[in-house]
Amino acid sequence: MKQHHTEPKKAEPNKTGSKETNQNALCWVNGNQCNQEDATLSIFDHGVLYGDGVFEGIRFYHHKPLLMHDHIERLFASANSLEIVIPYTTAELISAITNLCEQALFSHGYIRLVVTRGVGAIGLNPIGCGPANVFIIVAELNMMPANAIHQGITTIIATTRRISSSALDPRIKSLNYLNSILAKQEANRTNVDEAILLNDQNNVAEAVAENVFIVHKGKLITPPCDDGALNGITRKTILALAQESGIPYDIASIPEATLLASDEVFLTGTGAELIPVRSINGKLIPQCPGQIFSKLKVLYTGIIEQQT
Ligand SMILES: Cc1ncc(COP(=O)(O)O)c(C=O)c1O
Repeated sequence: MKQHHTEPKKAEPNKTGSKETNQNALCWVNGNQCNQEDATLSIFDHGVLYGDGVFEGIRFYHHKPLLMHDHIERLFASANSLEIVIPYTTAELISAITNLCEQALFSHGYIRLVVTRGVGAIGLNPIGCGPANVFIIVAELNMMPANAIHQGITTIIATTRRISSSALDPRIKSLNYLNSILAKQEANRTNVDEAILLNDQNNVAEAVAENVFIVHKGKLITPPCDDGALNGITRKTILALAQESGIPYDIASIPEATLLASDEVFLTGTGAELIPVRSINGKLIPQCPGQIFSKLKVLYTGIIEQQT
């Protein structure tokens, strides 16, 4: 039977206010740079069939990747947890990424580095799959509204929960993002910018693709990974900056009520960067952007400028 495909829609301005297209994206698949049309994977790849794979998102500024070693290290750790063998060395991946960033038509952008289990039999058993497929996309990415850095973003606490850390280690940055997607759809339906996910104990886990920080009673707090948070590289950098600059901080569980009673709330992530939160479930956060956020933002920008 003839399949009817609808014409691909032209890119509409999205909630971020940007017109995102893949027009100028660069692609690299298994060692070769290629056109987007040639950047394809088998439908028998278990990454496609089961979300069996791992990835990293890396930002580059002035054509230079930021904190690339940390990202590659986390990629290998994630792959190792799933017993996926990456058929490239760290040096080979760094060289491919560096090269693509230099060629990009935009000086600032985003790199998606993905490793899939590889082709296998249709059943989910990973035995016999492989070799792993590795691909890189270099593209522009605007995750938040243009004025978010000054005005903050609106959020909800999603009804979708983060998967328990005893069911799936949140440190594994895998291709399974379904509960983040469900939470994002909740945010879309309520017309807010982002969703915050709790775990089964009603403590804050993280946002859709960002870690959560609060300032409560003068202390900067972010949840531990065991509460369902990815060991974010931006999170790690912010904690190091807090330590260096004498901001009191803690890695501790954040009950929902504490989140709502915070003086400042902000999100961190490679894609979103540092974003202050203006409201949660319609409740205004008193300081947005707050003093601690603003101080850390300046220090973080300093790291970007130093390293790139
Ligand atoms: C679920 C989730 N949490 C947190 C983050 C932030 O981590 P990072 O700062 O390493 O980008 C990400 C980033 O992709 C993410 O997907």
